[in-house]
Order: sequence, then structure tokens, then C-alpha cells
Amino acid sequence: METVQISVTVNGKLYERSVEPRHLLSDFLRHDLGLTGTHVGCEHGVCGMCTILLDGQTARSCLTFAVQADGATISTVESLGTPQHMHPLQAAFWEKHGLQCGYCTPAMLLTAKELLDANPNPTREEIREAMSANLCRCTGYQTIVDAVESAASAMQGGA
Ligand code: FES
Ligand code: FES
Repeated sequence: METVQISVTVNGKLYERSVEPRHLLSDFLRHDLGLTGTHVGCEHGVCGMCTILLDGQTARSCLTFAVQADGATISTVESLGTPQHMHPLQAAFWEKHGLQCGYCTPAMLLTAKELLDANPNPTREEIREAMSANLCRCTGYQTIVDAVESAASAMQGGA
């Protein structure tokens, strides 16, 4: 099988790999790089679970071929924080119970990051609109909106 050489920066680290042209970016991240924080659900662009930031913008990694990321900069949920030093969004999801099973959480966090990077003080309606890109089968969404609202406040120095 023909392979293609790609060069991609993921979470600040440069990777150079040979991949098959039809290799999905979600599989590249999870299987080739071991970054299993990117979850996979429907694998056809509906659920949003596989969301990553590709050059700062949300993208569905199950709809993206790894070769399309050649030369790009990617952030996955592993870039956000650690249990000891959580990103304000992670802390807010924890405090506001913005997750139950956690399967959608990486996508929710990265979608919220994209929103707050562009709009640090969104309305609840704007938060709902942004987060509607991803499905959650557990929370009913209310606590997710609460968490993003709380993180926005914290990141602006609020309570
Ligand atoms: S796994 Fe990619 S959108 Fe569902
Ligand atoms: S917390 Fe379970 S799918 Fe969202």
C-alpha cells in the first residue's frame, strides 16, 4: 500500500510519520500517537465526539484524513491541563457536573475553548449554539452550559 509522509504538530510536538492516504486523522491520533483522549462515536460526522482543534478551529477528526493535516497544528484534549493543573474549562466542568460518563467531554471542552478564544464573554444562547455541535447522551446539556459560563467568568477574573 502506498504511503505518504506527513509532518504535523500535535499539542506542541512535531511528528513525522508515513500514513496510508485513507488513514483517518482520528485513527492517526489515537492509534499512531496514542492520544486516546480523542473519542470516536459515530465515525461519520454526526456526533462530534472526535472533535479536535485543527489550526485553532474545531474539526471532526473522523471526517478528516491524516494527510489533510500535513503541515497543520493540532490540539487535542491532552493539551488542556493535568489533574493537578486543570484548565479553567476542565475545573468548571468538574465543579458544575458538566459530565457524567465523560465520553463527550473532550469534544465539549475543545468546542468550548474555540468559543471562548473567539468570544470570551458569550451569552448562554451563544454557548448553547456552539455546544450544539456535539451530542451528549447523559447530562441534558444544562450543566455543560453552566460549566462553560462559569469558566468564561473565571477566565475573566470573576468568581
Ligand atoms: S465520531 Fe466523528 S462525528 Fe461522530
Ligand atoms: S457525559 Fe456522557 S455523553 Fe456526555
